[in-house]
Amino acid sequence: MTIVTTPTPTPEAGVSNDAPFSVEGKVIWVTGASKGIGAAVARGLAAGGAHLLLQARSGEALTALGDELRDNGTQVETITGSVTDPDALERSVERAQATWGRIDGVVACAGVSPIFKRAEAISVEEWRDVIDTNLTGTFLTATAAGRGMLERGSGSIVLVSSVHGTVGAPKLSAYSASKGAVNLLAKSLAAEWGQRGVRVNVIAPGYVETDMTSALREHDTHGPRLLARVPMGRFAAPDEMSGAVRFLLSDAASYMTGAVLEIDGGWTSQ
Ligand SMILES: NC(=O)c1ccc[n+]([C@@H]2O[C@H](COP(=O)([O-])OP(=O)(O)OC[C@H]3O[C@@H](n4cnc5c(N)ncnc54)[C@H](OP(=O)(O)O)[C@@H]3O)[C@@H](O)[C@H]2O)c1
Repeated sequence: MTIVTTPTPTPEAGVSNDAPFSVEGKVIWVTGASKGIGAAVARGLAAGGAHLLLQARSGEALTALGDELRDNGTQVETITGSVTDPDALERSVERAQATWGRIDGVVACAGVSPIFKRAEAISVEEWRDVIDTNLTGTFLTATAAGRGMLERGSGSIVLVSSVHGTVGAPKLSAYSASKGAVNLLAKSLAAEWGQRGVRVNVIAPGYVETDMTSALREHDTHGPRLLARVPMGRFAAPDEMSGAVRFLLSDAASYMTGAVLEIDGGWTSQ
């Protein structure tokens, strides 16, 4: 009997086996990039060779992060402005366009701390503040970048939701409503833009060790109660969000759109 062996294909010179997962040379706009999850995601994308436009409202931490990443060889632009301001978002798109000629990917991470309050005590101003930033700001960011992506017929957008976009919780009604709507915003954009080359997906983190959750995590009764709710028995480090974002922005996720990836230590599994 003759055994025919097929040689294992070797990668082309200069092309690594993880090429489909690469973000190298992609232009990525990250909002909410000055700290927490956004900053960790920016560091992860920089390590993967992406060019970055980083945005937040205040400039100091953003500038420091930009300097850090530039020192490590990343092409970075920083810009201040609120995601609730369409003109500011337009300026961001123009900056990316002027610097690199395009935006390949977006991470819409800007979000505000939940008001930890009973629904009947939330004022209309407090409600609007959460919805304006977490939902309207995410919509405005996705569409500001989406216009150019649709023209070019290519792009990947990652929205940042939460486990509380799927599972409600007492005293988090505005936040949960905003994040549940972000999940359906992604699915709606995916349905609308699917045939035009633009993918829109969501990451839904559990509780992550950032400023946003520090008061809850460190609270004498809420902290242990929250921790007991996590099957993995710990909160997430911010950089544990970056791998999934990198994947969704890469060509490895080329057939994924409208998906909600839960990165929650098992929170939504029970
Ligand atoms: N931490 C968690 O456990 C957790 C869990 C699930 C989902 N998330 C979501 O993940 C995202 C990031 O949260 P995080 O924990 O990293 O929060 P964080 O540490 O408080 O950081 C929030 C970031 O968003 C920016 N930001 C807030 N409002 C903005 C606005 N109107 N325009 C532009 N930038 C704005 C902040 O900078 P400036 O204040 O300078 O603007 C900062 O860079 C949020 O969407 C949050 O809802 C967090």
